[in-house]
Amino acid sequence: MMSTKQKVIIDCDPGHDDAIGLIIGVQHLNVLGITTIGGNSPLENVTTNAIKVLEVLGAADKIGVYPGHNCPMVAPLTTAPQFHGETGLDGPVLADPVHRPKSKHAVDFIVDTVMKEEDVVIIATGPLTNIASAINREPRIVDRIKEICIMGGSVTFGNWTPTAEFNIFVDPEAASRVFNSGIHIKMTGINLTRQCNFKSSHVREFRKIGTKTALLAADLTDFFIEACEDESELTGATMHDACAVAWIAFPELIKSAPMHIDVELNGNLTRGMTVCDYRHLRGEDPAVDLERKPLMHFRGEKPNAEAALELDFNGFVEMFYETLKVSA
Ligand code: BDR
Ligand code: CA
Repeated sequence: MMSTKQKVIIDCDPGHDDAIGLIIGVQHLNVLGITTIGGNSPLENVTTNAIKVLEVLGAADKIGVYPGHNCPMVAPLTTAPQFHGETGLDGPVLADPVHRPKSKHAVDFIVDTVMKEEDVVIIATGPLTNIASAINREPRIVDRIKEICIMGGSVTFGNWTPTAEFNIFVDPEAASRVFNSGIHIKMTGINLTRQCNFKSSHVREFRKIGTKTALLAADLTDFFIEACEDESELTGATMHDACAVAWIAFPELIKSAPMHIDVELNGNLTRGMTVCDYRHLRGEDPAVDLERKPLMHFRGEKPNAEAALELDFNGFVEMFYETLKVSA
């Protein structure tokens, strides 16, 4: 499978599925820097975790980690220790990092990089506070960012509440700023990522592959399977964030449809919901057989986003095995 080395900044809160995303991104994309955001765990933890993962991948000399905001724009920080443990990356035993976080703030790094480099894609796999702050700080980045690929939201159900997905729920005001910024959005919501479940059979393959990176992926997945199964009664571990990274590196793995997406800020039951207008898709369920359900006219506002609907999971797994084989 061919990948294009797209220039990206990965804004993340590792997090087990963020770490799996980093494994894919470091191998197949031109990662200009990693920015961190309080989310799954407080900022200090997720920053350390990002550096630890990069050190296993042998990429810590080349890729800087820039700490960003610890707290959302309005709401207090919600973390997810029930899925990721107290450190945000419980499970694998990783050495204390040798590398230090960069002293430049994530928001400054995003602004400076985007103003300097053409066609940068931002992949955001945590709450959107850093990205929203960067847009507020330097609105000219709106016309310079090629697109933002978000793991967050959903075309259908939520996970943190019946209607809201965790990353959007944590900072809906930031998400609203980003979705309404005019930057083209790719939304990798949980309607898509629930199609990406790693099971024990996959972990066995990772262990057979046996590279340092493969063993890290195995330990991450073992922990995450147990946490996801305990918390959500799903089978396997849903590798949400890895899907957003894969969409940029291997676009053929995901089918999507354009739609207008906005974020609910006020609803008592629906705060943090991504409200998706897919009335132009025939049928009730946009995830059902896009081929047989051609597009109709858009009825509401012009689409600001492309929503991921279908994942080629077998293709994803093959791509991931190949990635582990060629990684450190
Ligand atoms: C998202 O929430 C976090 O716990 C994961 O890392 C992922 O980014 C899924 O809702
Ligand atoms: Ca995440």
